[in-house]
Amino acid sequence: MRKYNVAVVGANGAVGEEILTILQEIDFPLNKLVPLASARSLGKTVEFNGKSIAIQELTNDIFKEEEIEIALFSAGGSVSSEFASDAVKAGAVVIDNTSHFRMDENVPLVVPEVNPEDIAKWKDTGVIANPNCSTIQMVQALKPLDEAYDIKRVDASTYQATSGGGKTAMEELVSQMQDFFAFKLDDAEHKAFPHQIALNVIPQIDVFMENGYTKEEMKMVNETSKIMHKDIPLSATCVRVPTLRGHAESLTLTFACDVDANEVREVLAKAPNIVILDNIDESLYPMPATCVDMNETFVGRIRNDTYAKNMIHMFVVADNLRVGAATNAVRIAQKWVEMEGEK
Ligand SMILES: NC(=O)c1ccc[n+]([C@@H]2O[C@H](COP(=O)([O-])OP(=O)(O)OC[C@H]3O[C@@H](n4cnc5c(N)ncnc54)[C@H](OP(=O)(O)O)[C@@H]3O)[C@@H](O)[C@H]2O)c1
Repeated sequence: MRKYNVAVVGANGAVGEEILTILQEIDFPLNKLVPLASARSLGKTVEFNGKSIAIQELTNDIFKEEEIEIALFSAGGSVSSEFASDAVKAGAVVIDNTSHFRMDENVPLVVPEVNPEDIAKWKDTGVIANPNCSTIQMVQALKPLDEAYDIKRVDASTYQATSGGGKTAMEELVSQMQDFFAFKLDDAEHKAFPHQIALNVIPQIDVFMENGYTKEEMKMVNETSKIMHKDIPLSATCVRVPTLRGHAESLTLTFACDVDANEVREVLAKAPNIVILDNIDESLYPMPATCVDMNETFVGRIRNDTYAKNMIHMFVVADNLRVGAATNAVRIAQKWVEMEGEK
């Protein structure tokens, strides 16, 4: 099997570190790993397969110099905007974790369990976009149910962990909790979130749009239609909660026909990378604390609506840094290797 020169841009960030871990766990066919970050990280290293590898500075020429074939970007939208074209010009496929390319109609937006065929469109721009973390875990559950029953509408409320905002956002929660135990929480600073996050929930993720929804909520709306190739009416309320890792979603699905919760459970149990945790007698259901470091999406609390026979409610949880970012990006890379890399 061919082996590839792979760059990870943002290698010491919350998502980048997970990408490195997963590449090792699955023994990705690597010829060379090139970890990249800003000049701030020069002198730092990452541990990979028992070796320390020096982080290099991201520059316009690095992809050509290092003969990169696959570039996994997760260093923010402005970094992708400036440097992804350099990687493409150097002959690499770019798999981008930021929101920069997601709604570009020439760029495929891919969740491998849902629309792997779209990867073939990578040639148009050299870029494949990774969706928003909340969208990925949701569409993994929506796809098999849409095929079985034809989804007519989705209503989602999310409970999103602080790591969705990167390492500094996680640190903000931890330092505010320390302030709480030192009786100093009233003076605590908040930079990553619009309000104190410790011992609080904030019904705002990202900025508000003109329609009264946040950008995060509209990402779920727009990205879902693009990935599923279907205009699905969807309304989301995205909420930040004081957890470190793992996004939870309460989903209400309306179908074209009547559905039975037991059948829905069976359909989802057969879907790729979905695990059912659903036994109320044992208080078994998915929670953020039990999904950390996992590459699957967990579904539970599956139940019929008490009024409408064509509606189902369920609770969906996944590790946002893995399923919602790194795992999806690496799965795209694996599929790309399978479909295109050997050509
Ligand atoms: N966290 C999530 O759940 C999640 C999910 C999906 C997508 N994403 C997206 O992934 C991206 C990274 O998120 P994160 O959570 O990993 O953030 P993070 O923990 O703040 O890490 C940011 C990484 O980007 C690097 N970086 C920043 N500015 C750079 C520059 N000018 N040039 C080169 N490298 C630079 C940083 O390196 P330095 O330390 O050297 O600055 C660091 O390695 C964001 O666009 C985010 O929206 C995140």
